Amino acid sequence: MDKKDNIILIGFMGCGKSTVGIRLSYALRRTIIDTDKLIEKEQGMTISQIFADRGEAAFRQMETDCIRKLINEAEGQIISTGGGLPMKEENHRLLKELGRVYYLKVTKETVYERLKDDTTRPLLQGDNPQGKIEELLNKRAPLYEACADYVIDVSEKSFDEIIEEFKERESV
Ligand code: S3P
Repeated sequence: MDKKDNIILIGFMGCGKSTVGIRLSYALRRTIIDTDKLIEKEQGMTISQIFADRGEAAFRQMETDCIRKLINEAEGQIISTGGGLPMKEENHRLLKELGRVYYLKVTKETVYERLKDDTTRPLLQGDNPQGKIEELLNKRAPLYEACADYVIDVSEKSFDEIIEEFKERESV
C-alpha cells in the first residue's frame, strides 16, 4: 500500500489543528480538508446535532468511513482530524496509509483557556469542563503518541515557529 503524501494533523480539541492547518496550507501551497467539516456536510448536521440525534458511536463510525474515503480520494493535501479520531486502533492503520501523521501536543491549561466559552464541543458541555479535559487528555495522550509519526509541542510556540518546524520535517 503506497502512502498518499498527505499531511495529517491529529491532537486534542483546541490544540490548533484547524488554525495550524490553514496557515500550513498557505505556507506549503496545499489544500486543506477537515474531517469534521466533511462529516457535517455529508450529514447536513452540525457535530453537536450528530452527537445529540445519532449518538457518539455513530459519529465515530462516520469518522472511520470518512478516512477510508479519503484514502481513495485525497493526495498531497493537509487533513485536519477530529480530536477523538485516533482513539480507534483501526484508524491508526488507516491514517498511516493516508499520509504522515503529526500530533499537535498541547497542555490541558491551554485547552481550557481556548475552549472555556466554546459551545460546539459536545464532550465538554458538562458542569466540569476542566476535569473532563484532564480526564480525556490523560487517556488520549498515549494514543496520540502511538498514532503519530511526528510530535510537535505547540503550547509554547508561535504559529510561525510551528510552521517552520513543519517545513523542516517536510524538507521544504
Ligand atoms: C471530538 C473533537 C471534535 C469533534 C467532536 C469530538 C473529540 O473535533 O470531532 O466534537 O472527541 O475530541 P476538534 O478536535 O476539531 O475539536
